[in-house]
Amino acid sequence: MKTRICTHTTASGADLTGFIVHREAGALFDLAWKERIPALEGFLGNSLQPGTRAAGTLPDADEAEGADGDAAGPARRWVDARTVLYSAHWNKHLAAHEAAKTAIADLVKTALSLKATSLMIILDGEAAHNGDLLEDLACALGIAAWRFETYRAKPSAVLENLECVLVTGGDATLDARIGVGLDMAVSVNLARALVNEPGSVMTPAVMAERAAAMAREEGLGVEILDRDGLVAGGYSGILAVGQGSRYEPRMVVLRYRPDAAARHVALVGKGISFDTGGISLKPGKDMHEMKSDMSGAAAVIGAMRAIARKKPNTAVTGILVCAENMIGSAAQRPGDIFRHKNGKYIQVDNTDAEGRLCLIDGLARAGEEGADTIVDIATLTGACIRALGTSLAGVLGNDDGLVSRLVACGERSGERLWPFPLLEEYAKELETPHADLRNIGGAYAGHITAALFMQPFVPKNAKWAHLDIAGPAYFEKGWKYYSPGATGFGTRLLADWVLGLAESGG
Ligand code: BES
Ligand code: ZN
Ligand code: ZN
Repeated sequence: MKTRICTHTTASGADLTGFIVHREAGALFDLAWKERIPALEGFLGNSLQPGTRAAGTLPDADEAEGADGDAAGPARRWVDARTVLYSAHWNKHLAAHEAAKTAIADLVKTALSLKATSLMIILDGEAAHNGDLLEDLACALGIAAWRFETYRAKPSAVLENLECVLVTGGDATLDARIGVGLDMAVSVNLARALVNEPGSVMTPAVMAERAAAMAREEGLGVEILDRDGLVAGGYSGILAVGQGSRYEPRMVVLRYRPDAAARHVALVGKGISFDTGGISLKPGKDMHEMKSDMSGAAAVIGAMRAIARKKPNTAVTGILVCAENMIGSAAQRPGDIFRHKNGKYIQVDNTDAEGRLCLIDGLARAGEEGADTIVDIATLTGACIRALGTSLAGVLGNDDGLVSRLVACGERSGERLWPFPLLEEYAKELETPHADLRNIGGAYAGHITAALFMQPFVPKNAKWAHLDIAGPAYFEKGWKYYSPGATGFGTRLLADWVLGLAESGG
């Protein structure tokens, strides 16, 4: 999709209006709209025929509110053979900004289904003057207009040829915010593209290569540890999880190092390229969705791209812990015990609780890199989905300030987090007579015991938060402004958090 920004408009009376124009057929518009929005004339060019009015094509302003008088009601559209005017209204189930973003996605979807060549979105009302909102809406547009089409014999020419004109009432600084929002969408879509790839393609080595390619492009430092490197570094958790797969595990370290940074934060992403469950095999139904078990790593790659482009004054290390959790004769068995590099012995009672075994190596590495604050992000537990459903991710951590800042970032980006307690009492469920600890808790609150399992491996004095994104990382049928598949959840949240650090002081 090509995007053009256009900044002349007077109030149109609607918060968000989309015009989808079939150029080849010529468009007919009520001249009242032309007067209110001068930019329309340039947009429609010769196809605008002064003095004509297509009967039944355009509603007046009252009608546009919805016949039932419910402004928050379902989106409505008016269609004739040649022209479509689509006016999307707020979706009452979502917060206002999310509803506006979803409305934009509706416009894009409609434009695509009608094989339209142009889509004009007029950002009026609050959006005309609110830079934050405009950036957010532009990001949503970039997200909404993206499809994963690598495995289509014929990729959609419609999407590629769709021209999207954003009309704002603002000035050059507001236009710049649109550019920033669209670029953030590129980072989010990078994460989505990585996740949507099948497990046989997005192996740990390929994930590492793709991360390195991004790093080279954006001027980040990158180090890849292959199997030998993992052995040399003592990263026994990743090795234990990856030992059953022909695709060897990797750790990737991405480094953003500005001069004289006051802070150093690490982002650690779970990168299980496919999670069969291992010997503790998962049920077959929906197992294909486990290609998304590297969504945390993908979000870190996306966030590191966004950070590299915005150049904050904070050192940031992105750490990807990549392995395939495969069943087979070389796979680890339930009951196997390995020694973590901090000296603790871990009994693997369930090979499907593999993410935490990899993440604790990532936490160790974050400490070795010198990070003072660590956020890990992982599709970690079904328990978190049972607790929150799929619209929220869980957050747990050892520092309330950090957790609440992350929650606030999520409220802004629409990647919402809900906090859970690190209830020490539940840690006794991780005890075993045969080793220092085991990798699963009891029947309840598995998202809390997972975080409690990781807590002792957090480097001393580091602030730490854990994001469990098992729910919102991947939607087989799509969600809000996301087409079916991966959402890139966390990309924007993590980038926003890092970018806000300099201002907030922590
Ligand atoms: N990758 C899964 C968690 C998951 C489930 C992500 C559904 C996305 C959708 C994770 O590795 C896992 O299998 N966790 C187990 C832990 C259990 C064995 C303690 C779970 O949640 O069932
Ligand atoms: Zn698992
Ligand atoms: Zn997993």
